[in-house]
Amino acid sequence: MTNIVILTGAGISAESGLGTFRDEGGLWAQHRIEDVATPEGFARNPQLVHDFYNARRAQAAKAKPNAAHVALAKLEQNLDGEVLIVTQNVDSLHEKAGSKNVLHMHGALNKACCAACDLRWDAPMVMSPSDPCAGCDTPATRPEVVWFGEMPFHMEEIGLALSKADVFVSIGTSGEVYPAANFVAEADHFGAHTIELNLEPSAGASRFSECRFGPASSIVPKWVEEELNR
Ligand code: APR
Repeated sequence: MTNIVILTGAGISAESGLGTFRDEGGLWAQHRIEDVATPEGFARNPQLVHDFYNARRAQAAKAKPNAAHVALAKLEQNLDGEVLIVTQNVDSLHEKAGSKNVLHMHGALNKACCAACDLRWDAPMVMSPSDPCAGCDTPATRPEVVWFGEMPFHMEEIGLALSKADVFVSIGTSGEVYPAANFVAEADHFGAHTIELNLEPSAGASRFSECRFGPASSIVPKWVEEELNR
């Protein structure tokens, strides 16, 4: 019986055509974080923020899971043990690939909430600042994504899972953003074997017991096959 916790970042969705944030020409080279990924930016110009997420929502809706997402779903279906995916991504490619046990610590593009009364609902494809909240009628609807300066979701559940993990795998993340960047240290503290699967060494590569580099669509299926045939 093996418990595996898998952290994923934008790199796992790169080969599905969705942009990463900090690679050459990434999202943070095209947009200012303070304008589109902070509560202050949303208060200043909600239309700009909705435009940014409407474009990403449309792109994510068309995107298809790649071999890495499919391999993780196969791992969950066939492993003698529990597989939990903790994703920093707001796309739904893990779910499209068939993964069921997925926590979106940075929220999801297909979810919306009200900045005034905190009601949550499934997001329409296009959101606008004039959309009234279905609960309190205030025009304060926002994408249910976690912005810089806000608390990530599911942190208690994630902490518990890390304390029980036999293996912690980090896939397609630069290790630049906390608290996700510290999960490897937490898992290691509780005795987990830690593995980084990434295109190139992340900021935290030296903290992993094992690192493999290459495109996720090739190194993740290879690792999953080894894990299932262990
Ligand atoms: N296969 C594997 N890894 C890849 C691939 C690929 N095909 N392409 C890129 N990568 C790696 C890059 O080398 C990089 O280490 O994915 C990582 C992407 O890093 P970032 O762009 O920083 O994305 P991420 O780590 O997910 O960012 C974390 O920052 O801005 C916030 O909320 C945002 O969730 C995001 C968080």
